[in-house]
Amino acid sequence: MKKEMGYDRRRVLAGIMENPSVRQKKLERVREIEGILEQVKKREKLDYEIFLGGSYAKGTDIKGSDADIFMLFPHEFDALEILRILRKEFPEGREEYSDHPYLMLPQSTFSIDIVPGYKASTGTDLRTAVDRTPFHVKFVQKNFTQEMKNEVRILKQFLKGIGVYGAESSVQGLSGYVAELLIYKYRTFDEVISNARSWSIPCLLDASATEFKGANLVMVDPVDPGRNTAANVSMENLATFILAARMFKWENWKEFLYPVRRDFELPSEAVVVYLPCKKCDEEVLIPNLRRISTVLKGELDALGFRVIYSSVFVSKGGYIVIVPEAKELGKSALHLGPPITSPNVESFLQKWKNGTKFGMPFMVGDRVCVLREREKIDVSETIAETVTKIKLARDFDLNKILVISGTNLDSVPESIRKRFLFPSLGQWALNQGMLSEMTQNPRKDIKEIKKAIR
Ligand code: UTP
Ligand code: MN
Repeated sequence: MKKEMGYDRRRVLAGIMENPSVRQKKLERVREIEGILEQVKKREKLDYEIFLGGSYAKGTDIKGSDADIFMLFPHEFDALEILRILRKEFPEGREEYSDHPYLMLPQSTFSIDIVPGYKASTGTDLRTAVDRTPFHVKFVQKNFTQEMKNEVRILKQFLKGIGVYGAESSVQGLSGYVAELLIYKYRTFDEVISNARSWSIPCLLDASATEFKGANLVMVDPVDPGRNTAANVSMENLATFILAARMFKWENWKEFLYPVRRDFELPSEAVVVYLPCKKCDEEVLIPNLRRISTVLKGELDALGFRVIYSSVFVSKGGYIVIVPEAKELGKSALHLGPPITSPNVESFLQKWKNGTKFGMPFMVGDRVCVLREREKIDVSETIAETVTKIKLARDFDLNKILVISGTNLDSVPESIRKRFLFPSLGQWALNQGMLSEMTQNPRKDIKEIKKAIR
């Protein structure tokens, strides 16, 4: 492709895009399923439009993209009834939920999603989140050249490579649509990268973006100005993207687009809470696990345990991984009393007039204190006790919760044990001298950078 694009796109795209004959076969399978849905429509006397959405319709698909087929109903429909019919028609299908039930048909190398939704008249006249999709497809079809679509593909592979692709709760990264809007705004992958180098968090990419409080990244949906397409992007993922953009050089493109995965070891002091689920919808479980993990960490913190890292996973149930600084705390805790100038000094001294196991009150600075015995010193026991006190969603099987520690950690699935620090920075982050250009030509003050990498 063009020289001014900075690098031989053809070579890069060859690895990102599906091999044309395989892509053709996939599309044939999609057509076949659309045909079946036509028959179902006649047979069951249903009223819906069959619509191929997602990246296949937009021409921004990459290897591993799923095909998204939508059934758009012009009026009320019974989603459960539709799912029941689809299940009969496609017994190999798996029911899934995002904010909306759909059927996932696993194929040998990709998946086809069949998603029921409403046929909306505009991008803002919506009943469910999926109703926006046809407008997204039209937007890309209308506004993107073939070159821009290929730039989207490179950006998507870049996001995938650095581990921040996908808006689902388990990732909290940038969606395919966000990648499309970034290319729409900046035209080329190189321009996206060059702009992202100077982003700080929160990053508002639209003039009208101020109303989306709390989001790390704001990219307003052109088909629905009330929606932030990047609402779910986590601070870690955005920071990773900014850092990767700052370190990117075409000479090293493979390290970014196709990183070698590195595994981790769970430290022996780690504690893993396993919560089996009755209703196993990842989009519900993950936010719940995050909430439980926050409560747990708050409780541990109050008791004097330091948690240095934590993460949540779903794999046939929920997992919370907690890495404390140590398995056990010391036997004593410093109980700080009031300063000598406080009227409460006397009552504090009265309360402790017999001292503790460790002796009488003493002075630290200008405050009276005692050393008292800690109630809880074992981190995994404390976690086990605390979990039973947290109100949990009914989606979990409350009677079968396990708190796993010590040598039992071996029983934790390898995908979690070896990837508890997921996503991790790839080799791309470890090359020396990549940031030197930035340092010579700083685009922002150190405070903003610190905020971005916090
Ligand atoms: P996909 O996640 O399948 O995205 O969502 P995609 O664009 O097809 O990308 P890949 O290639 O499969 O990874 C399908 C459609 O659902 C809507 C978008 O319209 C998208 O095109 N969608 C999805 C959203 O609006 N927001 C999201 O967070 C996810
Ligand atoms: Mn898709």
